[in-house]
Amino acid sequence: MKKLIPSYVRVPVIFAAVFAAMEYFIDSGEKPAFIEYPMVSLFLGVFLFLLIAIEIVVSAVDKITFHLLTDEQKKQLEEAQSFSFADSKLMKMLTRSKDIEEEADVMLDHDYDGIKELDNVLPPWWVYLFYGCIIFAVVYLVRFHVIGDYTQAEEYEKEVALAEEAHAKYLLTAPDLVNVDNVELLTDAASIAEGKKVYEANNCISCHGQNLEGGIGPNLVDANWINGGGVKNIFRLVSEGSTNNPVMAPWKDVIKPSDIQKLSSYIVSLGGTNPANAKDPEGEIWVDEVVTETETATTISDSTKVE
Ligand code: HEC
Repeated sequence: MKKLIPSYVRVPVIFAAVFAAMEYFIDSGEKPAFIEYPMVSLFLGVFLFLLIAIEIVVSAVDKITFHLLTDEQKKQLEEAQSFSFADSKLMKMLTRSKDIEEEADVMLDHDYDGIKELDNVLPPWWVYLFYGCIIFAVVYLVRFHVIGDYTQAEEYEKEVALAEEAHAKYLLTAPDLVNVDNVELLTDAASIAEGKKVYEANNCISCHGQNLEGGIGPNLVDANWINGGGVKNIFRLVSEGSTNNPVMAPWKDVIKPSDIQKLSSYIVSLGGTNPANAKDPEGEIWVDEVVTETETATTISDSTKVE
């Protein structure tokens, strides 16, 4: 008994389709779904088991019914089932091939040492493909060479623009890339203005004053710094808070790094201004841009000693 699709093809194909669908629809992050969720593996296992069981039952039933048939019926059934894709109507339609018995009709009288030639028609699948190509070519020619819909360069630019849009969108939600090691001083007016906004929005004013003149916290516009000046030190201090004085709290969980960068740049940009009611200088006069690790370390250990 021959079937159109044998079970050793049917079972793996159905199983693979279900497996692929589960991997596609279940969002399991980096790992495949059947590893991430044991339930998925269990389901697949049961499904495969049932699939095989059904195949076995169906073929057993088939065999039994076959034995119950009369010889006449058996013959008929076998004829009906001994049917392969090559004999199907669809295949005939696509190839218009002649059966062996009819070959004499298309035989040419060319005879090369017994090798004969058939004058078969071009197979329709090939002819239609060829017509399709011609239609495509005409449409393409008119669209791009006569009307000039768009050029390849335009297509490229459109795609780049799309990619840039996607990239900008990604950056909006992407984790911030600024940290104490790569932070740089921003000097453009827009960033400074935003830094000012961040300063005001986070109530730095309450301790450092409207014009950074100082109050509870130190003056931020004079040349003296307790924790070191320059954008790096300010960035670090505002992010991590002061180790000398817990009143200056860490802000890294409140303000995102790129905003702390703008904030620090804003503070640096006001350096040297002389606001009214300026608080007296505290700390050392800051000259060098970079404070080395060891210097920071000494400040910390000094402070622990003092406390
Ligand atoms: C509750 C009061 C308070 C608030 C609010 C506050 N600070 Fe401070 N800040 C301080 C104190 C006190 C110090 C001194 C720390 C020390 O002695 O190390 C300080 C130190 C600093 C320093 C280092 C000054 C130096 O000389 O080393 C910077 C920069 C600074 N604050 C920026 C900010 C910014 C920006 C904000 C807002 C996000 C802010 N502070 C909010 C109290 C505050």
